Amino acid sequence: MIKSLLFFGLLGVFSIPAKSDLISVCIEDDRDLRVDCMVEPKPSRINSYEFSWSSGSKEAVINTNVSGAASESQFRDKSYVEELEPQGYRLTMTGYTDTLPHNTTYMCKISGNSATITIEKDLLLPCSAVIWKTSCIWAMGLLIFLQHIYY
Ligand SMILES: *[C@@H]1O[C@H](CO)[C@@H](O)[C@H](O)[C@H]1NC(C)=O
Ligand SMILES: *[C@@H]1O[C@H](CO)[C@@H](O)[C@H](O)[C@H]1NC(C)=O
Repeated sequence: MIKSLLFFGLLGVFSIPAKSDLISVCIEDDRDLRVDCMVEPKPSRINSYEFSWSSGSKEAVINTNVSGAASESQFRDKSYVEELEPQGYRLTMTGYTDTLPHNTTYMCKISGNSATITIEKDLLLPCSAVIWKTSCIWAMGLLIFLQHIYY
């Protein structure tokens, strides 16, 4: 029993990073756009974040606290950033989900390390679906685990 507990514990640990890359984008229930950045900070750098996006040749900084850098004023009261545990930052944007261009490249930088992802507008998932996928894996693991105990 301890063995299978360990096994599914490991399965859980390994399946989460496979599901969520260093950067992910999804749509919240209230149509806000969410960008999660799980980039590991460079240890020697001052803690900072920067979120930006580009479409075609247009690039814009959405939210940052890198000293000396500035975000575009149009995003200032439309976006906010919060810290994620154990590491990373989450950007939430209001009012852009329905006017996104066809393809958008999202970028984030944490203390000098960066990640990018390009997503077509039509392929953006609701955030609840992303969470559901992860908990589905856990539920399946639990079911198999219970089967081990009782049969
Ligand atoms: C940026 O924000 C984070 C979290 O609020 C903070 O820990 C960090 O010191 C800030 N960095 C700068 C350069 O202000
Ligand atoms: C969007 O991106 C995909 C793959 O990155 C590319 O194949 C497609 O041509 C792009 N569409 C437009 C309209 O830029």
